[in-house]
Amino acid sequence: MTKIAPSILAADFGRLAEEIAAVGSADWLHVDVMDGHFVPNLSIGLPIVEAAKAAVKDTSKLPVDVHLMISNPELYIEQYREAGADHILVHQEACPHLHAVLQDIRKAGARPGVVLNPGTSFDLIEPVLDLVEIVLIMSVNPGFGGQAFIDSSLGKIEQAARRRGERGLAYEIEVDGGIKVQNAGRVVSAGADVLVVGTGIFGQPDYPPTIDELRRSRAD
Ligand code: DX5
Ligand code: ZN
Repeated sequence: MTKIAPSILAADFGRLAEEIAAVGSADWLHVDVMDGHFVPNLSIGLPIVEAAKAAVKDTSKLPVDVHLMISNPELYIEQYREAGADHILVHQEACPHLHAVLQDIRKAGARPGVVLNPGTSFDLIEPVLDLVEIVLIMSVNPGFGGQAFIDSSLGKIEQAARRRGERGLAYEIEVDGGIKVQNAGRVVSAGADVLVVGTGIFGQPDYPPTIDELRRSRAD
């Protein structure tokens, strides 16, 4: 069954705990950390990750999936783990020492994940595929919610699924950006296991039926 990871970037931050409780039927809680340097926007930092962790502890117990869109993420792994990150995902483009950072994430006790921008070739992460539990394929350029899905990411999702089979690996394929009920079927049929959805959930009047519908997505 496809997993759904609501992205709280699109939530109402004035009612964050309530919003997090309202997506409790999902599978993971996706938290976007942006530094205004690696991406041209600032968003969430450590205090919000702590607040999100406290909110899921009280309610759904969803794993907190932290997507670091920051330069030098290696400097912050311990702190995000302590703040409550269950998964820590770093961008290939931000890590000259990617192999070492992924090992540090595992040592800190979180599930390691690697992220690829739309303009980055899948081949660049071949050497670290055996170190990761999650491969996150960006289907928009990172930095903002509410952008249009980039179709060329479908080929990269297929490649991630094919290489996993060929190499006998078990990473989960997560896809982030521009996913809605209307296009989720194509993303799943390309090979996605986990769909990150921001505005496609928090922009709807009722979250649980949208989460259900996304989870049931199949190719047309
Ligand atoms: C974009 C973020 C996404 C964003 C997705 O940089 O990584 O997680 O919240 O938002 P939607 O689903 O609205 O494209
Ligand atoms: Zn994200």
